[in-house]
Amino acid sequence: MFTIKSKADRVEGTLLVGLFEGESLQSGNDELQREGNMYIQRGDVSTRFKAMTTLHFAKEGLPERLHVVGLGKREQWNHDRFRKALGHALQSIHKEEVGVDLDGLLGEIPTEVGAELLAESLVMATYTLPTFKTNQSQNASMQQLNVFTGQPEDVVSTALATGEAYARGVNKARDLVHLPANVITASKLAEYAKELADQYDMKAEILDKEQMEELGMGALLAVNQGSVEPPKMIVLTYQGLDEWKDVTAFVGKGITYDTGGYSIKSKTGMPGMKGDMGGAAAVLGAMETVGRLKPEKNVIAVIPSSDNMISGDAFKPDDVITSMSGQTIEVLNTDAEGRLALADGVTYAKEKGADRIINVATLTGGVVTALGSWMTGAMTNDRKFYDAVERSGESKGEPIWQLPYNDDYKAQVRKSDIADLNNSPTRKAHAIMGGAFVGAFVGDTPWVHLDIAGTSVAESAHELGPKGPTGVMSKTLANYVMNL
Ligand code: BES
Ligand code: MN
Ligand code: ZN
Repeated sequence: MFTIKSKADRVEGTLLVGLFEGESLQSGNDELQREGNMYIQRGDVSTRFKAMTTLHFAKEGLPERLHVVGLGKREQWNHDRFRKALGHALQSIHKEEVGVDLDGLLGEIPTEVGAELLAESLVMATYTLPTFKTNQSQNASMQQLNVFTGQPEDVVSTALATGEAYARGVNKARDLVHLPANVITASKLAEYAKELADQYDMKAEILDKEQMEELGMGALLAVNQGSVEPPKMIVLTYQGLDEWKDVTAFVGKGITYDTGGYSIKSKTGMPGMKGDMGGAAAVLGAMETVGRLKPEKNVIAVIPSSDNMISGDAFKPDDVITSMSGQTIEVLNTDAEGRLALADGVTYAKEKGADRIINVATLTGGVVTALGSWMTGAMTNDRKFYDAVERSGESKGEPIWQLPYNDDYKAQVRKSDIADLNNSPTRKAHAIMGGAFVGAFVGDTPWVHLDIAGTSVAESAHELGPKGPTGVMSKTLANYVMNL
């Protein structure tokens, strides 16, 4: 997909360059620099952030088409603007082979970071959703990006592969979220996880219903009770250290469809609930990235998966269930099913040796009310761990905002006349209640809870992808491990 070219190499076909406000074109090709700057001096090229100008040349040794993307002011240039400008530019060029001048896009950004951002932006921005349309017409898609640079080839090619590894993880997560629940059942999700494990030297362990019963996973089993689709507890192990120690666990909510159960959702609240395995998708995306980058770290992914259905067998409000941890739960709302699945997921992760846990889930409508679709909500029992996760998100363009978590909130999920916990205290602070419930199962293990109900699906197309699943937190999780 990427070929690295030197500044002296011939440029033909389509070339993309960036231009900062008030600056002129810098290129290894004197003639291109001269011709291009003529247009710039005449004011025919916009340097406004993300503006696209196309110049045509009909001369030997010049590209046929020169696309100039405006980079805005040099002093405002940063990673986020790089992703947006390049994503936008690469989305608007429908050519199979494109050249890009990397060095002119860097500003103060180091080459290896810029190359990583370039690959990440390209692979994310040109992503297309899986479709069941029988006569889909397709634009030509980019197959080949020729990266022109004066920097050492090995540095640039490693950075491009890194950026691609992050973006492939994101795109896989998007595929999984977009596919409907009659296609991606818990069993299908498990099959996919197994393929991933085979491909990247990981171990896959898939617990079936009988094994869950033996282990006493009563919380996940209760969610599955009304379903004809068997539940799966999906576990992937990546061991990059000689010993199984210092283990980071990712726990992803894998509810393949959430009807709400007997606390049933409304006819407008239900569509879209095929995406209730967005946490699982992010975790699998991150595992793909980790598998490609092969860090010397230990990682375990745990995905409790089921749909949440109604039938004569389904669990009901007022039921009391026993989780794998032994703690009993009064079910007040069958639509608060994600936290039940996560309770057993977190307990199992601890049993597998987790030294720290990050859980990811499309957990609450409350977080959408609080933060909208712009930031992922978080809770933690360990400030330093949280800070590291937040930084990992920030540098990958996935912002995270911490919600409060103190003894008052902890007390709410323990209010029950009949059991140790209740799964739905009140509508008050209900984004926090969801996290606090999961927190009751992590104990002293350092823990970060990420609620992606608002961020996992984009309402409209954007610079880094189409309307629909974003694959959010896939990059953050992988980056956290890489930075460890
Ligand atoms: N899967 C939903 C949360 C959700 C809502 C995800 C909107 C994506 C978009 C979750 O299982 C749920 O139903 N949560 C309830 C919790 C309530 C019953 C305490 C909610 O948010 O209303
Ligand atoms: Mn629900
Ligand atoms: Zn749900």
